[in-house]
Amino acid sequence: MCGIVGYIGQQDTKEILLNGLQKLEYRGYDSAGISVLNNNGVHLFKVKGRIAALREEVDENVHATMGIGHTRWATHGAPSVENAHPHQSASGRFTLVHNGVIENYTALRDEYLKDVQLKSETDTEVIVQLVEKLSEQYNDVEKAFREAVRLLDGSYAIALMDEQDPDQIYVAKNKSPLLVGLGEDGFNVVSSDSLAMLQVTDRFVELMDKEAVMVRRDQVTIQDLDGHEIEREPFTAEIDASDIEKGTYPHFMLKEIDEQPTVIRKIVQEYRDEQDEIKLDSDIRQAMLDTDRVYIIAAGTSYHAGLVGKQMIEKLANVPVEVHVASEFSYNMPLLSEKPLFIFISQSGETADSRSVLVQIKEMGHPALTITNVPGSTLSREADYTLHLHAGPEIAVASTKAYTAQISVLAILAVDTAKAKGIDLDFDPLQELAIVSSAMETLCDQKEEIEKIVSEFLETTRNAFFIGRGIDYFVGQEGALKLKEISYIQAEGFAGGELKHGTIALIEEGTPVIAIATQENVNYSIRANVQEVVARGANACIISMEGLDEENDTFVVPKVHELLTPLASVVPMQLIAYYAALHRDCDVDKPRNLAKSVTVE
Ligand code: F6R
Repeated sequence: MCGIVGYIGQQDTKEILLNGLQKLEYRGYDSAGISVLNNNGVHLFKVKGRIAALREEVDENVHATMGIGHTRWATHGAPSVENAHPHQSASGRFTLVHNGVIENYTALRDEYLKDVQLKSETDTEVIVQLVEKLSEQYNDVEKAFREAVRLLDGSYAIALMDEQDPDQIYVAKNKSPLLVGLGEDGFNVVSSDSLAMLQVTDRFVELMDKEAVMVRRDQVTIQDLDGHEIEREPFTAEIDASDIEKGTYPHFMLKEIDEQPTVIRKIVQEYRDEQDEIKLDSDIRQAMLDTDRVYIIAAGTSYHAGLVGKQMIEKLANVPVEVHVASEFSYNMPLLSEKPLFIFISQSGETADSRSVLVQIKEMGHPALTITNVPGSTLSREADYTLHLHAGPEIAVASTKAYTAQISVLAILAVDTAKAKGIDLDFDPLQELAIVSSAMETLCDQKEEIEKIVSEFLETTRNAFFIGRGIDYFVGQEGALKLKEISYIQAEGFAGGELKHGTIALIEEGTPVIAIATQENVNYSIRANVQEVVARGANACIISMEGLDEENDTFVVPKVHELLTPLASVVPMQLIAYYAALHRDCDVDKPRNLAKSVTVE
């Protein structure tokens, strides 16, 4: 949440910062700002709203070759110009942007800043005021910066400019992501994410927690908090700049839905060896063999993928699995088994709720595997093992291709474990996933039919229910989450059999109920549940699977293996949400109040 950028070089920095922020807008978009430094001092531009509004605000006539910028997802203090970053110290000498949450900001304020009149309600302002105080005390800005960083508790990625020093930007991080990008012709950049700076470089240096980094035009100096220098090799970001463009699509979400067949084929390719067998790190295989119980930890859509993953690992590999919402795990920690293995599922690899469980279970000495789309991410670095999703950058806030990639990789993991345990299976996941990929292609070609479902069932409704049994129940939960987060229709996913224990009271004349029916063993019972709601006036829509379909079903997905049906049935769910949002003029890619990577707990 929140994205930061910085540039120091030869060119005018405004466009570079604004373009970088545009790419980071998925991290938060309720306010934004940049500040640039030239011979006339610091020029600060801030708006409540999006980068497009910031572009309007920035004075074209101001030219500068260094600057920092920020796009915000509010934590402390409502979205407003005052609370937007960059924040400035009392004298105006220091300017700072921050992503994260400073947990001890009230203690720091009370101890060090009693005589300072704070201008905003943010935790961030405390950092910049603290640097000013300490620089007065030490008369040495580098030392003041390091000491300020030492005093901070919580998560942060920060970039700081000193009006009296036009030759360096100071940066530091703890728990929040931050990279320094290396330019070739006398410039360097700072960014929360390599995507934002691919416009100018693909060479980056990873920063570690609690380091102080001085970024100059021709040099990057990394220090520990005692001032000792640290050497670190850069890496090349293997992302194609076109992956982060919409191309001819109106929205990233639609592009990402359409990319799913290709992503599944890519996963098959990446996880297949020359003998057409599963290719998987032998240490991960061993960890799966050694464990007596898997604990899946995730949030949101990734949690929904985990629910499906549990079914696959238990049914195929015969290993017990529990799935936990990351933000609740610490309070409701189950009695752990003797040899637990933790699997963290996270598209971004940065989700703070998941990371806090990872820190906790590592302290307890348990092994961890992260399944993520971003292999260099925090959750990936801090776990013992990583499985990569190979889904390519997911930009739309609503997750689509990461969900189907997560389920596919979990299926491969489950089968690999089963085989390693000597379990005889008549299920070849690589072959079955190839079938899924063709089914997805067919589904992506049926957009008009799905749009019709939206017109018929969801056009004017306030609420909607998704029902399913078994694995379809989990897809219903995902369908409901997708719908509510981008179209703001209040939607819930329920187990078909559970309706009559309370929820059915909400069914009125015309209430939309979307039933998913892809499982043979529950086909009769879910259809009975549909009859129950129809008898009470519901407007029911049945999404079934070829082979199990009946005459009046609303939509039929192509047949895929019973365990992989979520990969097919979720596509109409994603498209339903997409068209519902579109018909209501909602911002599909950037729904209100949300951000793509949730780096605060
Ligand atoms: C919903 C969505 C979120 C994320 C959740 C976890 O469309 O995208 O629910 O799934 O915030 O994020 P990751 O997977 O990055 O840990």
